[in-house]
Amino acid sequence: MKKDLLSLLDLEKEDFVALFTRALQLKKRYNRGILDKLLAGKSLGLIFDKKSTRTRVAFETAMIQLGGHPIYMSAQDTQISRNEPAKDTARVLSRYIDCLAMRTFDHSLVEEFAQNSTIPVINALTDSFHPCQILSDIMTIIEHKGGYKNLKIAWVGDGNNVVNSWINAASVIGLDLVVACPDNYGVNHHIIEAALVKNKNNIVFTNDPKEAVKNADVVYTDVWASMGDENELSKRIIAFKGFQVNKDLLSRAKQDVMVMHCLPAHRGEEISEDVLEDENNVFWDQAENKRHMHKAILESLILGPIK
Ligand code: CP
Ligand code: NVA
Repeated sequence: MKKDLLSLLDLEKEDFVALFTRALQLKKRYNRGILDKLLAGKSLGLIFDKKSTRTRVAFETAMIQLGGHPIYMSAQDTQISRNEPAKDTARVLSRYIDCLAMRTFDHSLVEEFAQNSTIPVINALTDSFHPCQILSDIMTIIEHKGGYKNLKIAWVGDGNNVVNSWINAASVIGLDLVVACPDNYGVNHHIIEAALVKNKNNIVFTNDPKEAVKNADVVYTDVWASMGDENELSKRIIAFKGFQVNKDLLSRAKQDVMVMHCLPAHRGEEISEDVLEDENNVFWDQAENKRHMHKAILESLILGPIK
């Protein structure tokens, strides 16, 4: 049966480990000049209803480097914008391509595509989740910290799609995660309840950023207003006071703290200029690793699970 990647709750712990191992291996091989043409003759469709730099280019280059072919379709340029039903588009695309990556507002749209497709569907970001991002971010943590066990990871910011995927990952693989969001911008209670049912002991929720970053090994942040929320930015700048990741906040973390951001970043809002430009942080490695992780994801969904 075909598999989709719509949320990290679709994966078991072994799937995470297999993807980390394979992405790191593919990265090493690529850097040694070895071209693994594993997906020759295969096509990946990309339907993007929101803007993207990294995810789109990482998926397209991943597919090309594996010998396959990406086809980018902005939602406006397809019959979707003229109200062709999702279930019809999904059935038609299943006759042409081998996998579909989608970036949408409403998460239910990727679910509808997945239900009506005979090909794997990948969530390339929805309002609810950003699973591929967190897979490549944990890969980056493994590279820089030697693993993810016994590390304190602190989220400081909005209760958004990116932290939802962090919470999903923490509940499946047992990360030690502290999530700090301002009052009224916290994580949706359904996400919290699902995580706590799976794994109670390792995920903590707070509204105190200073407490969250205390002795943290990794501090992660993201924009205060995600795509679709931009008109709330001025209100959010007030509500998020004290949540900027800057040198003062980081003085409470471990001395070798690693700061992460999925990018794009808004300097002077969720992160200060000096932290973003600090060479000890890993933002650009995170961006690069999306390409290697996307290769591992595409291989496992199109050719079958990695053994
Ligand atoms: N991090 C991320 O998903 O970036 P893009 O929006 O540029 O794809
Ligand atoms: N939370 C951000 C992530 C962008 C990669 C957004 O959804 O806009």
